[in-house]
Amino acid sequence: MKILMVCLGNICRSPLAHGILKQKAADNQLNWVVESAGTGDWHIGEAPDRRAIAIAKKYGVDISGQRARHFKPQFFSEYDLIFVMDRQNYADVCAQVIDKEDLHKIKLFLGDDVVPDPYFDDSLFDPVFQMIDQRCAEVIAKGGNPTA
Ligand code: 4NP
Repeated sequence: MKILMVCLGNICRSPLAHGILKQKAADNQLNWVVESAGTGDWHIGEAPDRRAIAIAKKYGVDISGQRARHFKPQFFSEYDLIFVMDRQNYADVCAQVIDKEDLHKIKLFLGDDVVPDPYFDDSLFDPVFQMIDQRCAEVIAKGGNPTA
């Protein structure tokens, strides 16, 4: 199972989802590959936002070694599941689909809900961590498909 987490900048939300799910998969002896990318290209090569690194560290997850990547259409063939954090991410990723068969791989991470962008609001990092952490536990429990 190869899972890609996607947000806008790949420095706040998707690095958290990437680090948390990767850790939970390892804790559960699941041989999953979990990675992340952003639909925007401003932060390519950068470490996650220091606030994302700090909130993850507070709850025992180290995301400091991650480096931001830009989403590429070739990722559709590389990953089994592409989880997006909000509806703009969903639209931006869907717009890059070449083979319509790949559309089913793209899922809003929270189902009907969205993970709010914490970049301009420090107070959102803790609740964003909690909602991502809870959903990662559900993804693990459902074997990768939280809608199953
Ligand atoms: P993310 O947050 O999509 O959760 O990584 C953002 C990071 C950077 C920007 C926007 C959102 N930005 O505009 O640079």
